[in-house]
Amino acid sequence: MPNQFIMTQQEGPVAILRLNRPDVLNALNIPLMDELITNVEAYDQDPGVRCMIITGNERAFAAGADIKEMAEASVVDMYERNNLARWERIKRVRKPIIAAVSGFCLGGGCELAMHCDILIASETARFGQPEINIGVMPGAGGTQRLSKTVGKYRAMELILTGRMFTAAEAHAMGLVNRVVPVERYLDEAIAMAREIAERSPIAVRVAKEAVLRAFETGLSDGLDYERKLFYMLFATEDQKEGMKAFVEKRKAEYKGR
Ligand code: CAA
Repeated sequence: MPNQFIMTQQEGPVAILRLNRPDVLNALNIPLMDELITNVEAYDQDPGVRCMIITGNERAFAAGADIKEMAEASVVDMYERNNLARWERIKRVRKPIIAAVSGFCLGGGCELAMHCDILIASETARFGQPEINIGVMPGAGGTQRLSKTVGKYRAMELILTGRMFTAAEAHAMGLVNRVVPVERYLDEAIAMAREIAERSPIAVRVAKEAVLRAFETGLSDGLDYERKLFYMLFATEDQKEGMKAFVEKRKAEYKGR
């Protein structure tokens, strides 16, 4: 079925998924999220893709979950739709995902960006968890991921006041990796995605899995998990090729095997 609310494009090993409801600042309604999740999962299975980018447009990455879709919902409606549980499928994606953010990145938009592994922001990006202003609270991971990223006190202020904050502030708090001029935010994300795509795809996926494990477990278990994955990579051709290429002073040719 053709996509209605997202646009996809592939540049070599990099897949770009663009949220596309510009009239409503890319508000994340259920059909958009379903399309996004379906496409992300398809790229995760596609051996030709090594890294993904989720982006919006210059004015908005996404201004949150679609308020009009939820405004009249009852608790039973919300429970039955169980829309936010489906977002968990993004968490299970094994290839790296970069969020390329410009303009509004609010509520569910900020939470979607935080589902990604690396955040590149334009100088014009505005972040926030403004749900408190409409009588609710973050529901797609904001209270957990923002707290783990920026710490309890900053998260508490941002979630309880709902105020917006700039890309520079987000960078200072460790929420974004790089802030670049608006003309460059997507190119910067593509350049980083290409850099990652040159590495061993299997080592990249396993390393992502190990880093994510740090958010789920204590230090000793995490270190144990890391060590086992590290040893496991010695069963790959890419490990042999990577180390042989180093010794022979040439560029490695990784196959993802
Ligand atoms: N849901 C539905 N529609 C939205 C929307 C959203 N989250 N955000 C913006 N829109 C729509 C507006 O209704 C408007 O549509 P119309 O032209 O049909 O009226 C259009 O997008 C443009 O928006 P504005 O006219 O409001 O643009 P602005 O430049 O004056 O303001 C803004 C921009 C400050 C981002 C403002 O739109 C805003 O505050 N949006 C809501 C932000 C928000 O509260 N997000 C959290 C949603 S709840 C959530 O995300 C829950 C969760 O944790 C999963």
